[in-house]
Amino acid sequence: MLKIKEGELVHLIGKRGKRYQIVLNAGSSFSFTRGMVSHDDIIGLEEGNAVKSSLGEKLVVVRPTLAEYISKMQKGSQIIYPKDIAAILMLADIFPGARVLEAGIGSGALTMALLRAVGKDGEVVSYERKKEFSDVAIKNIDTFFNRVESAGKEGSGTLILKDRDVYEGIGEKELDRILLDLPEPWRALEHVDKSLRTGGILMCYNPTVLQIYKLSRRLELKYARSFRVMGIYEVGLREWEIKGRSMRPEHRMIAHTGFIFVAGKISACE
Ligand SMILES: C[S@@+](CC[C@H](N)C(=O)[O-])C[C@H]1O[C@@H](n2cnc3c(N)ncnc32)[C@H](O)[C@@H]1O
Repeated sequence: MLKIKEGELVHLIGKRGKRYQIVLNAGSSFSFTRGMVSHDDIIGLEEGNAVKSSLGEKLVVVRPTLAEYISKMQKGSQIIYPKDIAAILMLADIFPGARVLEAGIGSGALTMALLRAVGKDGEVVSYERKKEFSDVAIKNIDTFFNRVESAGKEGSGTLILKDRDVYEGIGEKELDRILLDLPEPWRALEHVDKSLRTGGILMCYNPTVLQIYKLSRRLELKYARSFRVMGIYEVGLREWEIKGRSMRPEHRMIAHTGFIFVAGKISACE
C-alpha cells in the first residue's frame, strides 16, 4: 500500500460524510469547526486510515477519485458533472490513443477525464477563448495530475491548450473526436465538417432543448451528407440512502444538467 506523502492532495471525511480537501505540508495544520489536525499526523498513513482532531472528531483520510476531486475543485465556468462525463466517454467512444479536440476547456472537468481516457499515446487539443477560465482549468488539471497520487499521470494523454475561438476555425485535421461544450455549437459545424475524419464522432453538450433543436435542424438541412445523428441523451442519476432499516432515494438529486448530442461523420456517396 502506497503511504500518503507530503505534497499530496487528500480528502478528510468527517461525520455525516462532510469532506475537507487539503494539500499536505509538513509542519502545517488544518483547522475546522471540530478542532485541528496536524498534517504530520496524516503524512505516512495508509489511505483509509483515520486521524482524530484536537476535539475528538474522527476523520478518514482518502485520495479523491476524479469525480470527488471535480466536486471540490475551483470552478471558473459551469462544469460538466461527473454523471454526464461518464456517459460522454462511452457515447463519444473515447479510446486510448485518440486525437480529441474539445471547446472550451471551462474549468477542465471534462478535460481531465479525456486525458485519462485517451491514455499516454493520445492527445487532447483544447480551444478556449477566455484566459480567466483556462487559468483555472490549468491549475485544476496540474493539481489533479501532480498532487493526487491515484490520478494516473504516467498513463494520461498530452494536453495542448490553444487560445482560440472554435467558431472561427479548427486548425487540426483528421481528428478522431470533437467535443463541444459551448452555447452555439452549430456555428462550428462548418469547421467540424472539415476537421473530423470520416468515421469520427462529434459530441455536443447543451443545457436547453432549443439549442439541441437548432443544432439538429442545422445538421439536417445543411450537413445531412456529412453527419448521421447517433443519439440524443439525458442522464438521470439518483442516489439512495440507507440508514438502519430505512432505505429510500435521496430527497435531493442533480436532475437536469444537459443534453448529450452525438453524431458520426460520414462520407455520402454521389
Ligand atoms: C460550459 S464551459 C465548459 C466547461 C468544461 N467542459 C468543463 O467540464 O469544465 C464553456 C466554455 O467554453 C468557452 N467558449 C465559449 N465559446 C467558445 C468558442 N467559440 N471557442 C472557444 N471556447 C469557447 C467558454 O469561455 C467556457 O470556458
